[in-house]
Amino acid sequence: MPMKKESKNEVPQAIKGMRDLLGKEYYAYQGFFEKAAEIATYYGFKPIETPIIEETRLYTSGIGETTDIVGKEMYEIKSKGSAQLALRPEYTAGVLRAYIENGMQSYSQPVMLYYFGNCYRHERPQKGRFREFRQFGLEVLGTEKSIADAIVIKVTTTILEESGHKNLSLQINSIGDKICRNNYRRELVNYYKRHVGSVCKDCKIRVKNNPLRLLDCKDPKCAPTKEAAPQSVAYLCDACKQHFKEVLEYLENLKIEYTINPSLVRGLDYYTRTVFEIISKTEPAEVKETNANQKSDAPDAPKTDDKRKPVGLALAGGGRYDYLAKAIGNKKDVPGVGVAIGVDRVVLSESFNEDLVPRILKRPKVFFIQLGFPAKLHSLAIIEILRKAKVPLLQSLSKDSLGTQLSTAEKLKIPYTIILGQKEVIDRTVIVRNMDNRSQEEIQVDKLADYVKKLK
Ligand code: HAM
Repeated sequence: MPMKKESKNEVPQAIKGMRDLLGKEYYAYQGFFEKAAEIATYYGFKPIETPIIEETRLYTSGIGETTDIVGKEMYEIKSKGSAQLALRPEYTAGVLRAYIENGMQSYSQPVMLYYFGNCYRHERPQKGRFREFRQFGLEVLGTEKSIADAIVIKVTTTILEESGHKNLSLQINSIGDKICRNNYRRELVNYYKRHVGSVCKDCKIRVKNNPLRLLDCKDPKCAPTKEAAPQSVAYLCDACKQHFKEVLEYLENLKIEYTINPSLVRGLDYYTRTVFEIISKTEPAEVKETNANQKSDAPDAPKTDDKRKPVGLALAGGGRYDYLAKAIGNKKDVPGVGVAIGVDRVVLSESFNEDLVPRILKRPKVFFIQLGFPAKLHSLAIIEILRKAKVPLLQSLSKDSLGTQLSTAEKLKIPYTIILGQKEVIDRTVIVRNMDNRSQEEIQVDKLADYVKKLK
């Protein structure tokens, strides 16, 4: 397709991979957020909001310079100050920064936080993959205990299920701590060095720079090598083995089905021990790029199960990050575990539960018809009376004809109309009409709230 020429006279459009949210879609996001926040609150999580812009070094040292998220996808910002800034590609590093900066180490531990907001990654847009997207996340900070891993997974599956997603697959793995992971990394490097002739260009670099990322590679050329690669679970030390065993025991106890996926390492460098993804088995997996130049080698793209078949779209991903605090410059380690749900994927799916409407959205009981300027002038005071009485209404600000407004109310199946004309303004009354049986009554404005509240 020929490229569209930019014209100075054209109104600029939303940029690629970003979009406006309006109408029903906006309410769906809001409804999801209310439900997710409610569930998290019942489990003891408290809200946090962090800035969309942070210092770039938070992400380079936290997520890792050689990860795709930082190396290829981060939006860096030119600003007037000297600090290098970036739009947040994810929340975890920022939430941990906030925990340290706000002295949350002195709170009773663990600190359990939830958040909701926009993230930015310069990826190749496709179904379920945007450059501006929304995450709802949970972080449990200040404990190594396996119950924290289990609670994060439990709350996530509950949120996804209550949002309409029933056909889920939990993929889980343990990548060990800094001691046993080093042994594993060494084995992986030795193995890949032996097979360096059969892997892609990027993997040749990964062997030197960031060997765990080898298991994220989506290039079909590397698949056979990846399949036969050593598996992290075989290298776990006793403490990590015990931790993983406990997490799985919690899941069994909670009757949450899981699949141990030995090639699941996740695309962020900060993970230790538990890593997991929750995949929708009914949502098709994203289109994979095979051309290395255009490749969107995304961290959350669905991993494969033991038979190495794509299983669907990742709705959520998370894991433990016990060394992230030191990586971003804190003197002490702060153990932590968390998850982020890809809200756009959840809400835009056909499985999304349409009943999740925000609390502010009420079915209108009344259609308010104002006829002429004097009526419009008085109408705002009457709307305020009805608002205080919690009577939801609709109105048509620009229409003046009674017939048009009555037929609008009928079309919208609103049970009552309130009619305010010049005569009613003088008499300080309104006409309340039952749209079902077409009966109507004149009501004094000061009696209106009580009258309407009693209407069925
Ligand atoms: P992540 O796997 O990069 O993890 O992202 C989590 C989820 O965000 C993904 O499973 C996916 O549903 C959604 N997501 C990611 N990229 C996009 C995109 N471009 N468009 C639409 N949705 C997307 C993290 O971000 C970690 N911070 C999660 C975490 C929290 N780990 C510990 N605590």
